[in-house]
Amino acid sequence: MDKTARSGTGSPFIRVRGLTKRYPLKTGLFSTSREVVHAVNDLSLEIPRGMTLGLVGESGCGKTTTGRLLLRVIEPDAGEFSFGEVSDVFALDREGLSHLRKKMQYIFQDPYGSLNPKMQVRDIVTEPLRYGGGLSSRDLDRRAGELLERVGLSPGDSRKYPHEFSGGQRQRLSIARAISSAPSFIVCDEPVSSLDVSIQSQILNLLLDIQRDLGISYLFIAHNLAVVFYLSDLVSVMYAGRIVESGPSRAIYDQALHPYTRLLLEAMPGRGAPGAARTADTGEVPSLIHLPRGCAFYPRCPLRGEICREGVPPLEEKRPGRRAACFMTG
Ligand SMILES: Nc1ncnc2c1ncn2[C@@H]1O[C@H](COP(=O)(O)OP(=O)(O)OP(=O)(O)O)[C@@H](O)[C@H]1O
Ligand SMILES: [Mg+2]
Repeated sequence: MDKTARSGTGSPFIRVRGLTKRYPLKTGLFSTSREVVHAVNDLSLEIPRGMTLGLVGESGCGKTTTGRLLLRVIEPDAGEFSFGEVSDVFALDREGLSHLRKKMQYIFQDPYGSLNPKMQVRDIVTEPLRYGGGLSSRDLDRRAGELLERVGLSPGDSRKYPHEFSGGQRQRLSIARAISSAPSFIVCDEPVSSLDVSIQSQILNLLLDIQRDLGISYLFIAHNLAVVFYLSDLVSVMYAGRIVESGPSRAIYDQALHPYTRLLLEAMPGRGAPGAARTADTGEVPSLIHLPRGCAFYPRCPLRGEICREGVPPLEEKRPGRRAACFMTG
């Protein structure tokens, strides 16, 4: 079925408003510092059912923190998160959350660190299924075999251990584990960045295939813009804990609205003027501890004006379906 038809025209499947997370800054063993790292600041995003939102931005801008907050691995300081019929995931108590756990999964960057080396593949891929109990050993064997086949491995691999697989195969195991509990939302956190380039497209295509079959919504976190544009229907660009631009992937690729997105695009191989990548690497990296009063991108921005120091530009609709947080872009 066509993705747009499946997503319908109703309210978005995933809707996050005002998400905020501050980490206390640890400066020493006996530190009494009250300073905090503003990892995620008033972040909002939406993902229709069965679609992919690519979340991009430089290292340390808060992407992983966002993914972990949505899965409630860590708790937010503020924000609302509606997910399908659940009006606020952040308001659920432990019991409510345990029902929801199977519906939301995470695929990590590092397929080596995220699979328990002492567990057999069969137990790894069926782990999310075993929470509630009730499945016989034979059921688990059968389900493990099906999952392995679904991700392009052999059911005969069931009794092996993670060290017997290559990096790409391990990421297939992570995907099998993530889909075992029939989730409707998966956070894919840089799922291919640790893999050889030759393997990356196989894993991306597997993720696309699975999405087409199962109608799962993805939050796809990545540095690599080429990968993000390949996979995503929608893109949100993050800078210093905030979304600075969001919209359909194709429209952003063709014409970015925010100067930071333009900088990222110019640095993409095969795009921009010669030497553009160097420009993108320079410039001040924003401090998440002492946030400036105005726009965090101000020190690096080619368009900056006086107004940009006075307040944080709101993320507002500049064109139909397209938002940017910039006083200088119309
Ligand atoms: N547990 C923590 N305690 C304190 N600070 C943290 C913690 N986790 C993350 N941070 C800080 O929060 C900010 C955002 O980190 P996060 O890992 O979300 O960034 P990221 O965009 O995923 O980066 P990368 O692209 O490198 O994975 C960083 O400044 C980071 O140092
Ligand atoms: Mg990260």
